[in-house]
Amino acid sequence: MILIRRAQYLSRLLNKATASNYCRCYSDTHRKSSITEKIKQGPGLKDFIIESSEPVFTDRPHIPYLLENDKIKTKRKVFFDVYGCQMNLNDTDIVWSILKKEGFEKTTVEEEADIFLVMTCAIREGAETKIWHRLDHLRGYKRRAKDRSVKIGILGCMAERLKEKLIEKEKAVDVVAGPDSYRDLPRLLALTENGQTAVNVLLSLDETYADVVPVRLNEGSVSAFISIMRGCDNMCTYCIVPFTRGRERSRPVSSIVDEVRHLAEQGVKEVTLLGQNVNSYRDVSQATEKFDTHMAKGFKTVYKAKKGGMRFADLLDKVSAVDPEMRIRFTAAHPKDFPEEVLQIVSERPNICKLLHLPAQSGSSAVLQRMRRGYTREAYLQLVEDVKKTIPGVGLSTDMICGFCGETEEEFQETLSLMEIVDYNIAFLFPYSMREKTTAYRRYQDDVPDQIKKERHHRMLEIYRRKCQILNEAEIGNTHLVLVEGTAKKSGNILGRNELYLRVVFEQAEILAEDGGKRRVKPGDYVAVKIVGAKSATLYGVPLYHTSLCDFYRENQWGVRQAVN
Ligand code: 5AD
Ligand code: SF4
Repeated sequence: MILIRRAQYLSRLLNKATASNYCRCYSDTHRKSSITEKIKQGPGLKDFIIESSEPVFTDRPHIPYLLENDKIKTKRKVFFDVYGCQMNLNDTDIVWSILKKEGFEKTTVEEEADIFLVMTCAIREGAETKIWHRLDHLRGYKRRAKDRSVKIGILGCMAERLKEKLIEKEKAVDVVAGPDSYRDLPRLLALTENGQTAVNVLLSLDETYADVVPVRLNEGSVSAFISIMRGCDNMCTYCIVPFTRGRERSRPVSSIVDEVRHLAEQGVKEVTLLGQNVNSYRDVSQATEKFDTHMAKGFKTVYKAKKGGMRFADLLDKVSAVDPEMRIRFTAAHPKDFPEEVLQIVSERPNICKLLHLPAQSGSSAVLQRMRRGYTREAYLQLVEDVKKTIPGVGLSTDMICGFCGETEEEFQETLSLMEIVDYNIAFLFPYSMREKTTAYRRYQDDVPDQIKKERHHRMLEIYRRKCQILNEAEIGNTHLVLVEGTAKKSGNILGRNELYLRVVFEQAEILAEDGGKRRVKPGDYVAVKIVGAKSATLYGVPLYHTSLCDFYRENQWGVRQAVN
């Protein structure tokens, strides 16, 4: 029986490794460099004997070779360093939840820390450079802390990408854990107690951490993030994400709705649904009677069409119904997955923020083709029109890359012209950074000189700032619903965000409350704010009165949103 279980385990491991053509996987717990050696030192028969009182395969994913003896006896303090996207922030909450359960403690004071965990990002060279500098600092710190044992762990996307370099060249690193192996962290950290180096960068086809309730590092915050899916199947030619985070998989609807409910009960007022591509969400455990939605005209995918399951529109429907006073945001998205149904529900629900992320990446059809984005400039512009028609008052955000392989001045000017045509409220603008393993690395030349990339980046920023200034000035005199987040350290002014995620600043004041009395403003309040000034990234206002999300939209602009769930 035990042998069968071990065979099943190994076959499951092998299936995972081979079923995905993007996954290069291994799991090891030592310094020797040969892969065969590493496999030999994986879980042994005795580990499975110890496990034999429990079924190896339960619904809940679990690490079958975490032994009681492996667990750390002393309480150890962990210092978290987080780099990169919002997904990484949320992953850090998942890691903290896993470690807290195992008796670890958290610290924000370096000198107190026994373990430094660095959540890393590999998307551009700049992100990695910052992390190497941080590692230099930590290595020095570890050397100086001779009298006590300090461990360094590298988590996330760089872990997958640079495991050999991190372990073999940068001797100071003790643990390397990829984005799908956080459940294994207690074991990996325990192994380091005996001076071993522990690595698990296995990518999974089904890990979503659905059953791990993240424990927020910034507990007091009025907003929270929820990962609804992981990985990406799009394989844009410039992007490392499918290699570092693996295949796309979605969390079950029910676990997401439960988490939103739990956060609402804790007083959280804003939830952002996170994923590499939230709008291709698909809970395949749920059958739907509805037909699959079609992609908008002019959009295609590199992967075979997926069918069935609960889609993003269904999820939005359920999540926004949990608490009509909770704002719902979502990011990141791909323009290919905005069927009519999604636009409709965004337009109908007052608590779904009317800000859509439509990352264009380039305004040139030729560059888009080289990037393998699956649409042309014309199809993208048509989508923008459709979105604006269906969701009056909608805000748009985008990501743009300049200096991609072979980008000519004319092609770049098409990006600038797209930015002139589309009014983006928020844009993330990047000079291209060639990443190993990507299709672009294999197929194209990184032939736009750095200086030109820099200059093009500047020109994009200039248009973006100029246009934002104009868009924001047009808001002067309007009243916005602002969710209060906190207070500025220096000025003591109140900081909040409007529906389009723009920062709104105003002075503390006693204003009319819902009960007819007056009270000051505090984090978590919804306040109606009259806009009186604007910069390219900030609005300045005067607070008028306390309100609720439902009341505000009943009384204010954009009549289509009167319907309250
Ligand atoms: N170079 C520059 N920007 C990149 N992005 C992804 N890969 C690269 C790269 N190699 C940008 C894209 C993506 C965002 C998250 O990062 O614009 O949407
Ligand atoms: Fe990267 Fe493209 Fe996937 Fe976004 S959609 S994560 S850019 S591969």
